[in-house]
Amino acid sequence: MKINLANIKKAIKHLNKNECVAIPTETVYGLSGNAYSNKACEKIFRLKKRPKDNPLIVHYYNNIELRKDCSFDNRFLDLYKKFCPGPITFVLNLHKNSKISKIATNKRNSLAIRFPKHPVTRALLKKLKFPLAAPSANLSSKVSAVRSIDVKEDFGNKIKYILEGGKSKIGLESTIIDLRKEPKILRVGGLEISNIEKVLNQKVKIKNNPLKITGPGQYKLHYSPGIPLKMNVKKAKDNEAYILFKRIKKAKPNYYFLSKKGSLKEAAKNLYTTLRKIKKSKFKSIVVGKIPNKGLGITINDRLLRASKF
Ligand code: TXA
Ligand code: MG
Repeated sequence: MKINLANIKKAIKHLNKNECVAIPTETVYGLSGNAYSNKACEKIFRLKKRPKDNPLIVHYYNNIELRKDCSFDNRFLDLYKKFCPGPITFVLNLHKNSKISKIATNKRNSLAIRFPKHPVTRALLKKLKFPLAAPSANLSSKVSAVRSIDVKEDFGNKIKYILEGGKSKIGLESTIIDLRKEPKILRVGGLEISNIEKVLNQKVKIKNNPLKITGPGQYKLHYSPGIPLKMNVKKAKDNEAYILFKRIKKAKPNYYFLSKKGSLKEAAKNLYTTLRKIKKSKFKSIVVGKIPNKGLGITINDRLLRASKF
């Protein structure tokens, strides 16, 4: 992707004035603001209609800047070297004297942080004098945005600027790992857990039960397309939208395919756009065929399960 410096300058201008700017990342678009500014962080919560007790992820260019705000150990450094920038978020201990807004953390002494890989947002972060607080750029509890038009659909003209970055390559949010004590996965995501386990050389616990609220912001209703959704359905009625993992020849008008040949990567990238497309169609309910529960399929099924709690 070519980087348009004029666009980056516009984003910087708004961010320096504590305004919110939507940014592209390789996972999903983020709704960003100066993480040191209470004013900017308050705006993020207001725009997203996000409950105040659900803390924000903060995005950094690299771990040099991070040192000012958080402490970390070798486990972090090993994962950082292998996967960053990339789709992994770390929950770390926050320094008492950190400048991160107490609004962003809801006064917690931990901070979720990430180094996004998208070249446009990396170019932006490199030029800024502060890290960016950015939750996913969608209305709270709804489907995430993977294109600038998705962001526009949710927020209209309410946000000052959307930094264009094309469609998010991964299309699913980052994997969240809590590294404060024994490593613990808080959200399955765009980075497969087996890859993390290889680097840490140990099994990692998953505290990610979508049906139980176990941590901050693990709200049951999440990623919701706004209409009922049922998983693992073998046969669909003609009046319900039917999402299938892999394209089949005998397609009906209500069929939506996540991938051409059965690639989980392609399916991940198309999941949220498909849900948004159906929401705008005449269908009032969604059924989904079986999706392999391995690799990225684990994350796809996790999001669908949460979406099914409508
Ligand atoms: O891929 C991503 O992670 C995207 C892009 C924009 O970076 N961001 C994203 O943010 O998905 P959000 O806010 O939609 O989800 C972040 C999750 C929330 O469930 C929140 O509760 C959790 O991270 N979180 C934030 N701070 C935390 C903390 N200190 N401890 C535990 N969980 C935290
Ligand atoms: Mg979100």
